[in-house]
Amino acid sequence: MKKGMLKKIFAIATIGVMSIGLISCGKKADENTDKLAQIKENGKLIVGLSADYAPYEFHIINESGEDEIVGFDVEIAKEIAKDMGVELEIQDMDFDSLVAGVPAGKIDLVISGMTPTDERKEVVDFSDIYYVAEHGFIVKAENKDKYKTFADLKGQKVGAQMGAIQEGIAKDNIPEADVQLLSNVNDLVLSLKSGKIEALVVELPVAEMIVKNNPELVVGEEKVKDTEGGSAIAVKKDEQALLDSINSTIKRIQDENLLDQFIIDANDLTTKQVQE
Ligand code: ARG
Repeated sequence: MKKGMLKKIFAIATIGVMSIGLISCGKKADENTDKLAQIKENGKLIVGLSADYAPYEFHIINESGEDEIVGFDVEIAKEIAKDMGVELEIQDMDFDSLVAGVPAGKIDLVISGMTPTDERKEVVDFSDIYYVAEHGFIVKAENKDKYKTFADLKGQKVGAQMGAIQEGIAKDNIPEADVQLLSNVNDLVLSLKSGKIEALVVELPVAEMIVKNNPELVVGEEKVKDTEGGSAIAVKKDEQALLDSINSTIKRIQDENLLDQFIIDANDLTTKQVQE
């Protein structure tokens, strides 16, 4: 009798604890709390990127023999998390699924050398620009005299990352370009080396890193200006507090002149780069 009673009390107490748990879970997902407050409450910032873009973001085997994602975008992400007082978690994703991951709540931000295009602005908001680079193309070293300009690539198979603005750059600058899209830049490099494509269009700093690691490739002579503004951080729409916080970190990075060093360090680390 007494035992049964105790059991009952215990059962009721358990249900009580469970419902408190449920209530607090419900509160976390509360639509009324702004995103920045939610990130702080969770104690971590989830940043999405496509780690196939050295020196922006890429994989290395670190000193402890572990796979690690590094690059100057990762350093910027660390500064943002530091200013928010939270931990940083990185989600490595295909480039063309990053933007959709933000409203879906899978990631809090995208820091992935991303250009703030009008099309993307329909889905996400962008921070201030933190870096501007030109665009270039890579070819096999043996073809360097054949393909000096974009126009020289007329009618050829040219690679670009799926979902990236380089598809448009290739189409705008190469007459009758046959643009081949792949999700991962490392796979595009392999396609170029094996002769499946004749050239690969990427941001110039990335082109330079690729040829540094692949002596059989060279950067083509012609470069094109970035007409869409450079790289910015994508966040959920209408989250002013979050955007302000990110922009103030970008400003601090500029005021303290940190980016140049982040880029130098990222370039040095490419010697340990692994092609995923
Ligand atoms: N800037 C280009 C874009 O926004 C390409 C960026 C690719 N980034 C990457 N991590 N693979 O479309």
